[in-house]
Amino acid sequence: MPESDSPVDTTATTVAEIMSTPVVTTGPDATIATAAEQMRHRKVGSVVIVDDGRPIGILTERDLVRIAAAGADASSDPVGEWMTPDPDWVARGASVSDAFMSLAEHGYRHIPVVDDKQLVGIVSMRDLMRIAQIQPAENLAHEIPKGLEGVVVAETVIGDVRGLEGFSHYRQYSAVDLAERRTLEDVWYLMFDRELPTLAERDAFIDEIRPLREIPGDVADALPTLARLGGDAPPLDMLRTTYSLFATSLAFAPSLDVPAAELRQQALRTCAVIPTLLMALYRLRNGREPVAPHPDLSYAANYLYMLTGETPPPEHARAVEQYLISTIDHGFNSSTFTARVITSTGADLGSAIVGAIGALSGPLHGGAPGRALDMLDSIGTLDNAEPWLRDAVARGDRLMGFGHRVYKTDDPRSTMLRGVAERLGGDKVELAKAIEAKAIEVLTELKPGRKLYTNVEFYAGIVMDTCGVPREMFTPTFASSRAIGWCAHVLEQAADNRLIRPSAQYVGPPPPQPVPDPA
Ligand code: ACO
Repeated sequence: MPESDSPVDTTATTVAEIMSTPVVTTGPDATIATAAEQMRHRKVGSVVIVDDGRPIGILTERDLVRIAAAGADASSDPVGEWMTPDPDWVARGASVSDAFMSLAEHGYRHIPVVDDKQLVGIVSMRDLMRIAQIQPAENLAHEIPKGLEGVVVAETVIGDVRGLEGFSHYRQYSAVDLAERRTLEDVWYLMFDRELPTLAERDAFIDEIRPLREIPGDVADALPTLARLGGDAPPLDMLRTTYSLFATSLAFAPSLDVPAAELRQQALRTCAVIPTLLMALYRLRNGREPVAPHPDLSYAANYLYMLTGETPPPEHARAVEQYLISTIDHGFNSSTFTARVITSTGADLGSAIVGAIGALSGPLHGGAPGRALDMLDSIGTLDNAEPWLRDAVARGDRLMGFGHRVYKTDDPRSTMLRGVAERLGGDKVELAKAIEAKAIEVLTELKPGRKLYTNVEFYAGIVMDTCGVPREMFTPTFASSRAIGWCAHVLEQAADNRLIRPSAQYVGPPPPQPVPDPA
């Protein structure tokens, strides 16, 4: 049975109760290629090498990496030459916490379980980590990188990011290819319904979402007051508040109680109305009447239309559309994870989206494109670039629009948007390209080994600025497209839900301390 699928009894106290069995085994003469294929086929991270039922060695995924690096011939070299011989083991009656300590202390990920010298099972760190009772987790913390970097927290069929390759995909398609070849509506359909639409499906989908762009009457009536009360609050904060009112007014019920078709309908309505809410609030705060959505315009053209009241040039609508498509989804980024955590509690879709908007508002996540353009303005000229950038990095400032948790090479969205910016032209593009090159030079020199390159936000600002989107609306525009990704994740989480409830390592003064009387 694959380890990850093993039903783990969270009340278990002995290894026998949680071990995986039968164990994937092989003899010492089997080739490395055969053993690797066994691991892949049985979806396990190790193979135990046995002789007459006794475990004489273990070969793990980590060993395979080592073997490949050493240039071994996997098709002919026997595992006996590469296995870890005489592996540590635990008795089937050993306690779960002893097994945990043994794994954690030695840094093992798998440990064979033995009874009367015979191999009877295998227990993995993953099995043990699924048991809450192994607290306190002093050693566990060594396994959990700060910021959860690289930690896999769920399975998804929505998409992924491959940071080392500089590649991201929605479903099975490259996100950049989709942005080059398809409309936003097509990609929205793909995110919700798993397939790209046919022409007829596209038309039906557009008909389905067109009326959902309208703001319900009672919410529309409240907007002038909300815009006034909001004062100078950032537009994303205003969206958070107003969207929350919208979801409440439509009585979105806990996702746990909502059938899948109704949840999809709520998700469609959410993604369709967010641009209208954003633009209505923006105009009201600037003393202008909201512009109602245009039924005949695409999502992107309508987005710009509701900003100005005029049909935008097609090249602007397409440029903004390509930006919007490229930011719909991006792995388990902070706001998407937030939406999934909230959904995992069974809460309503509105709560998940409100939480995600909050997470996105931080400058380390969605708040960068305006700041990236501020940085370009502040640098001003190419001559000023090098001293400005050096000073900033030396001071410990972050260059906005650079660096990424996952990409350790060019962000493919940034490369695409550089092309979009070049196509649009404009006075900022050449300066931006020169500053980008200088910034990478400076980061490579002053932050060696960190692999800091341009992220999606750097050229996003240029593209939106050229298309007439005001700077304060950059992050809200990002929220508008990302809402489609959030909703796709809410639907996926709700369809196969389990409460997301991790643990933390307590590092404060040892409890229990006597509670002092008030001094
Ligand atoms: N400028 C200068 N130094 C940087 C930058 C940057 N933009 N990004 C990372 N570093 C440095 C850090 O100072 C740190 O250096 P140190 O090892 O000397 O302390 C090192 O690189 C690693 O930084 P972390 O903070 O550990 O990297 P993390 O993966 O947590 O951060 C993040 C990723 C938040 C995107 C970061 O690169 C950053 O702050 N960038 C600027 C803001 C930005 O552009 N945000 C938009 C991200 S894209 C998006 O969310 C859509």
